[in-house]
Amino acid sequence: MVTGIHIDETLCTRCGVCSSLCPGELISLPTPSSVPEIPPEKLIRCIDCGHCEVFCPTKALTRDHQAGLPPSPEIKSLTPELLTSYLMNRRSIRMFRSESVPPEILLHILEIARYAPTGGNGQPVEWLIIRDLETIRKISELSIDWMRSIQSSDHPLKALFPKFLAQWDRGIDGICRNAPHLIMAHIPSGYHFPKGKPMAFIDGIIALTHVDIAAQAFGVGTCWAGLVAMAAVEYDPLRCFLDLPEERELVYALMAGYPRYKPGKIPERKPLNVEWR
Ligand SMILES: Cc1cc2nc3c(=O)[nH]c(=O)nc-3n(C[C@H](O)[C@H](O)[C@H](O)COP(=O)(O)O)c2cc1C
Ligand code: SF4
Ligand code: SF4
Repeated sequence: MVTGIHIDETLCTRCGVCSSLCPGELISLPTPSSVPEIPPEKLIRCIDCGHCEVFCPTKALTRDHQAGLPPSPEIKSLTPELLTSYLMNRRSIRMFRSESVPPEILLHILEIARYAPTGGNGQPVEWLIIRDLETIRKISELSIDWMRSIQSSDHPLKALFPKFLAQWDRGIDGICRNAPHLIMAHIPSGYHFPKGKPMAFIDGIIALTHVDIAAQAFGVGTCWAGLVAMAAVEYDPLRCFLDLPEERELVYALMAGYPRYKPGKIPERKPLNVEWR
């Protein structure tokens, strides 16, 4: 968790990018001419993603942390250095440009993921790509309905959701974040041991991870749509709406589209913790 953010007022253009990209909606610009701030009582909700810092276009914002790494060089061919840089530069994208990614590019990315490892080479993963904005909107709406439906229960995650409900009521989609596409991986139902293929769920996550990594090479940004995935498992109206093929169930979903903003550096992460034996 950061203990605060620092703004170089001479560099800050008051563009609001930091505020709009903060996944916790923690940063505010009280007036159009003020610099961004995080009220101290909100700091506890900071997930330390570093996006406010690395996406700031003028490098005006720093956090109470060591600085992120310098920007990576342009990637032209695959060397260990460039692969390192490529992978470390991947960031979750939460604001998208409105234009669609051409279907052939999405298919190219999924072709790459077709070669991801699968348990016993079972290759159980199939895909649903949603490109219709109204359908994506409806998926967000049903996810919100699910969040509302569990507010009076003892669901362990319910405390996380009032923020998304309040956003929705203000006309902001914090679920699919106006992404122009959702990429969904699905597998045969009942993969749980001992009935089905116990590794199929992991196969799906690995395939989605390959999509997440490959997309960047095509200029496509992604973000794991965890809220949609949870709602789709727990909430029948959303599961029915997705209407996956018979005997198939969702593994997880990724939002995808062209990023509106690009990070200028890499945020720091927890240090590597390795035990050698
Ligand atoms: C399983 C999983 C679920 C996630 N679900 C969401 C989500 O529903 N909404 C969102 O904005 N980000 C989601 N994220 C993105 C994480 O918040 C993000 O990966 C993390 O803050 C680190 O930032 P980075 O990906 O830019 O390094 C999810 C990530 C993972 C791996
Ligand atoms: S993103 Fe940077 S320049 Fe824009 S308001 Fe935030 S601190 Fe200022
Ligand atoms: S580090 Fe992430 S969660 Fe914390 S204030 Fe910055 S953008 Fe928000």
